[in-house]
Amino acid sequence: MDFRLTPEHELIRESAYKFGQVEVVPDVTARDREAKSDRTMLDKMAAAGLLGISIPEAYGGSGTDYISLGLACEELERADTSARVVLSVHSGLHTLTLLQWGSEEQKKRWLPGLASGDKVGAFGLTEPNAGSDAINISTRAKRDGDSYVLNGEKTWISLADYADQFLVIAKLENADPKPTHAAFIVERNTPGFHSRPLHGKLGVRSGNTGQIFFEDLVVPAENRIGDEGDGFKVAMSALDHGRYTVASGAVGIITACLDACDKYARERKVAGEEIGRKQLVQQMIAQMVAGRDIGRLLYYQVGWMKNMGSRHTREVSMAKWVNCKNAFDAANSAVEIHGAYGYCDEFPVERYFRNSRGAMIYEGTHEIHTLIQAEYELGYRSDRPLKCTLPPWE
Ligand code: CAA
Repeated sequence: MDFRLTPEHELIRESAYKFGQVEVVPDVTARDREAKSDRTMLDKMAAAGLLGISIPEAYGGSGTDYISLGLACEELERADTSARVVLSVHSGLHTLTLLQWGSEEQKKRWLPGLASGDKVGAFGLTEPNAGSDAINISTRAKRDGDSYVLNGEKTWISLADYADQFLVIAKLENADPKPTHAAFIVERNTPGFHSRPLHGKLGVRSGNTGQIFFEDLVVPAENRIGDEGDGFKVAMSALDHGRYTVASGAVGIITACLDACDKYARERKVAGEEIGRKQLVQQMIAQMVAGRDIGRLLYYQVGWMKNMGSRHTREVSMAKWVNCKNAFDAANSAVEIHGAYGYCDEFPVERYFRNSRGAMIYEGTHEIHTLIQAEYELGYRSDRPLKCTLPPWE
């Protein structure tokens, strides 16, 4: 067993950190206040090579391993959640799922554009009436010769207004013997597609979230990912990747809380003494440190399992569940340590508090992950070998 990061890992961590501090942090408060998102951030991330992390060189990516993606997510979320969400959706939910499930022809067709950032990918599973109960979606796909006709809508879609293509999960209308699922790549420029932004979010305000609609939208059969009937498995695989990026990003929030609190606790004095000397403040700082260090171990383990090509559904659920709760608790403590200053956007911790709350809802709620962990322990849930796994990193 070797817990050390390689020099290449350190380089990725350092460049993602610099990107966050130079390109994201300077105007993050203004963008968050105005709930302003635009495509510029995606273009900058593409130019910095961040969108090709963990994609093999054969498909135009950087050829770095899966731990690298986690490190980049941690450092990006240390700057702002909206930057990490780009990697979660584009790289985790969309690109890695194509790498796992796409045919060789599909990988050659789509991965180079995604790795370079010429194309941005997103994911469409959740619907107005199907969130946790993801299997019971209403979007329908009807086979018609060499195509499928899609009708339905998806909501809470990150990058809805900017993505060029979406990995969409639908139920097959005329499947035999019973309705089952299929996954498709739907391109934005297809007639019958439209998107609309959602407004008024509690957090991640400078990130784009919206709805996407399919109205008699025709998708060629060659855009189906996996076989008919694989759709739900494709969706769950996508979540194995997405949850990894959310879990690693959550560690970045804790680190950002520590960055802010270490400074504030040494500057702010009460009765002539730094508040960092107060034991109740130290207790909160110590909990944050534990959350950060435990969180890293949890997501490094998942990255290592990804590198080996092993199924890691239980482990990634654990990392996402524990890290997101610890990030929320850290942000809550960070507000507490800052007192009234923590309650306004003069300091970043109120943003961490709002942003960290979202991650306990998306990509499996806190409650869903609690149930998943209990079910594994009680033997009600077990990991069967997968029909298709993410290629191991070589
Ligand atoms: N990889 C591949 N296949 C998998 C899998 C995985 N990780 N997990 C399950 N499967 C397969 C199973 O093997 C099973 O197939 P077999 O019967 O052939 O073995 C099939 O899928 C059904 O699996 P389960 O029995 O586990 O299904 P379930 O109904 O018990 O799952 C659930 C329940 C775990 C709660 C699941 O519905 C779930 O995770 N819900 C939460 C959904 C979620 O996270 N939504 C967030 C959407 S993304 C988002 O937030 C938007 C965004 O853009 C940020």
